[in-house]
Amino acid sequence: MAGVPGALLYPRAAPQPEEVIDAPVRTAGAHARPRGGARLTSREPLAPGARLAALDEIPDGSARGFAIRTPRGVVEIFVVRQGTWLGAYENVCPHVGTPLDWTPDDFLDRERRHIVCATHGAIFRIEDGVCLAGPCQGDQLEPWPVALRDGAVWDASATMPDPG
Ligand code: FES
Repeated sequence: MAGVPGALLYPRAAPQPEEVIDAPVRTAGAHARPRGGARLTSREPLAPGARLAALDEIPDGSARGFAIRTPRGVVEIFVVRQGTWLGAYENVCPHVGTPLDWTPDDFLDRERRHIVCATHGAIFRIEDGVCLAGPCQGDQLEPWPVALRDGAVWDASATMPDPG
């Protein structure tokens, strides 16, 4: 899936010491979506640029949520890994803005082939966040920049332009 925003194929022939996986590409309108969910998170907000997890802590076919402090407030994100692909998205469903995981870190369907929204069941392709079925079909999850460094996944939002 080379060229898809938010995607990284690894390992590479010559791994870089630090590589931003997800360029801060914005899709129209999605950035400003309000948070509509009532679910509260117990995730401790992390500073921009924080180490999120060891790569081993996000095994193939899994996803894990985090909260990042930003100039626009705390943003929930999740990192998802499938095969040789790893990327991250904001934890906001494009349908009505609720978090995708009603149960913490439960982002994927039973077969671990798609991201699924727990609220109304929309299904999203992992590698680009496009909604394949459900009430927001054709819409897209908002990518979030992360980096791989020293065997760990790091937030890379400090490199994002100020949305204001
Ligand atoms: S809020 Fe996600 S499908 Fe409705």
